[in-house]
Amino acid sequence: MFDAIAPRYEFVNRMMTFGLDARWRRRAVRDLRVAPASVVLDVAAGTGDFARELQRQGHRAVATDLSYNMLHTAKNVPWRVHADALRLPFHDGAFDAITCGYALRNFTDLEGTLAEMARVLRPGGRLSLLEVAEPRSGLWRAGFRLWFRRVVPILGSVLSDRDAYHYLPASTAYLPPTEELVAMLNRVGFSAVNHRRVMGGLSQQFLATRRA
Ligand SMILES: C[S@@+](CC[C@H](N)C(=O)[O-])C[C@H]1O[C@@H](n2cnc3c(N)ncnc32)[C@H](O)[C@@H]1O
Repeated sequence: MFDAIAPRYEFVNRMMTFGLDARWRRRAVRDLRVAPASVVLDVAAGTGDFARELQRQGHRAVATDLSYNMLHTAKNVPWRVHADALRLPFHDGAFDAITCGYALRNFTDLEGTLAEMARVLRPGGRLSLLEVAEPRSGLWRAGFRLWFRRVVPILGSVLSDRDAYHYLPASTAYLPPTEELVAMLNRVGFSAVNHRRVMGGLSQQFLATRRA
């Protein structure tokens, strides 16, 4: 599916979020609070939005994804590794930090994948995850639902691929509740797990530190 939507993926993203996703990524990278020139792995990197933001903020980014076409489309990302996030081809503790954007719903073994992220992070290393969310409050929530469940699938069908953009709102069903995700992160080796709703719940962010 991701191979098919790769060419127009970023364009549709910008339309869907009115360009706000760029701002959310900027903050997610800043919140890592790692030293300049840190070596950061972007898991399920897609077309490289996070990796380029990491580079802009002075880090050395390695992008990895299971979809060859998504990685192939990633411009200005020198280090790209085609791999399954469940079996990352890196040594234990190889990275200072990890980012992962809007991919958790797609992992068939989420806990195993988070454990793999913990394995390749050095002790004290930082993790920053972004994922879709849904606002809690009435009108904001209703507007979001209308946009995300009704308009986005039509927009995606017209601009890109019908099945992929009908799957997108449906895929939120695969996302565990916040408390369960926090518990999972603790179980696989993270501490100081922090969850934040972004812009009233349009998106959400998890931050955590690899336990020593
Ligand atoms: C919605 S896209 C997000 C891409 C990018 N992180 C972003 O923020 O725009 C989800 C990505 O997860 C990747 N993906 C899904 N399952 C994966 C797996 N098991 N290992 C690595 N990447 C995977 C897909 O190929 C796709 O590029």
